[in-house]
Amino acid sequence: MLTRRCVALALCAAASALAAPAARAQEPFRIGLILPMTGPNSATGRHIDAAVKLYMSQNGDTVAGRKIEVIVKDDTGAADLTKRLAQELVVNDKANAIAGFGLTPLALAAAPVATQAKIPMLVLAAGTAIITEQSPFIVRTSFTLPQYTVPFAEWIAKQGSRTVVTLVSDYAPGLDSAKAFKETFEKAGGKVLDELRAPLRSPDFSPFLQKARDLKPDALFIFVPNGQGAQMMKQAAERELEKAGIKIYATGDVTDDDSLNEMGDGVLGMITAHHYSAAHKSPENEAFVKAFKAQAKFRPSFMAVGGYDGMRLIYEALKKTNGASDGAALVEAMKGMSWTSPRGPISIDPRTRDIVQNVYIRKIERGADGELYNMEFETIPNVKDPVKEAKK
Ligand code: PHB
Repeated sequence: MLTRRCVALALCAAASALAAPAARAQEPFRIGLILPMTGPNSATGRHIDAAVKLYMSQNGDTVAGRKIEVIVKDDTGAADLTKRLAQELVVNDKANAIAGFGLTPLALAAAPVATQAKIPMLVLAAGTAIITEQSPFIVRTSFTLPQYTVPFAEWIAKQGSRTVVTLVSDYAPGLDSAKAFKETFEKAGGKVLDELRAPLRSPDFSPFLQKARDLKPDALFIFVPNGQGAQMMKQAAERELEKAGIKIYATGDVTDDDSLNEMGDGVLGMITAHHYSAAHKSPENEAFVKAFKAQAKFRPSFMAVGGYDGMRLIYEALKKTNGASDGAALVEAMKGMSWTSPRGPISIDPRTRDIVQNVYIRKIERGADGELYNMEFETIPNVKDPVKEAKK
């Protein structure tokens, strides 16, 4: 038989159970945004932070009844700090998602935290193929190196280059790129004469460029992460590779929109491959670039687009879950999502949680505004990460 106290308690419990979802609905949805805001990779942080702010100013800060709160943390590009910040965001700040990750080692360091906390981890910047396999909670809006290296190697082979030397940064995305290049280019009948690797930190590219010159290939293929391209291209000009008859091809990381204008006329005509250019011709991109420049006071790079699309993914997933922040449900909601990004049509591969996007072959030209741009002239549509495609 129920006592009065018990009835009261039961009612209380029922009342609080009823109240709980409402109370939870009032809780903000907290995104821990971990970025290199200082140090050698600060351009990544600056672009993503600005893009997140732009997305929120355009789309409001409330989704499905949840206020969106972004907590920015500066990991300075140090992986041990990324991991500690991710843990603090989960434990102290009660983050419902973590996002950012400007370099591959930083994403790899944070992955176990997302798995343990069962919250979505949005990779907005890093590009090594295996990253999304490190946690079922990872979803990526950036790119993978093989995603644009493979179509580029095929394209270069078609241009008639028979011998190539590759020069990449000596860490995971560089190794991904060099491997993808060699496999693809040699399958197309070409030969990679040497695979050179420059250190990631404080690199001096001169000895590697000299080595490449001495090997006399038809072309040199380069990948370095964003922020290092200006020095690379300056040192390449000093070695006069083009004069020696060696064509230079690079991934778009080398000539990103943030640093391209520092490179000067020497890079005019250079051909690169990538998924985003500020000069991409579409109404979505023109609106994005205009709004971004008005708010941030600089033009957006591919890092900015990764951040902008990552915010969209979180907003749309939250709409689908009606504001519920269950991590597995949010990741499920993100799978298969597709939309037109400033970079072109994109989707999240439901099998791999990796981005599917167009790859563009571009040529550096001076735009009508006097600035240098990567002008897209050929499109390879809807490219999936080839490394994960090969594992199917
Ligand atoms: C990476 O560390 O994964 C990375 C960073 C910057 C890039 C490309 C890849 O431009």
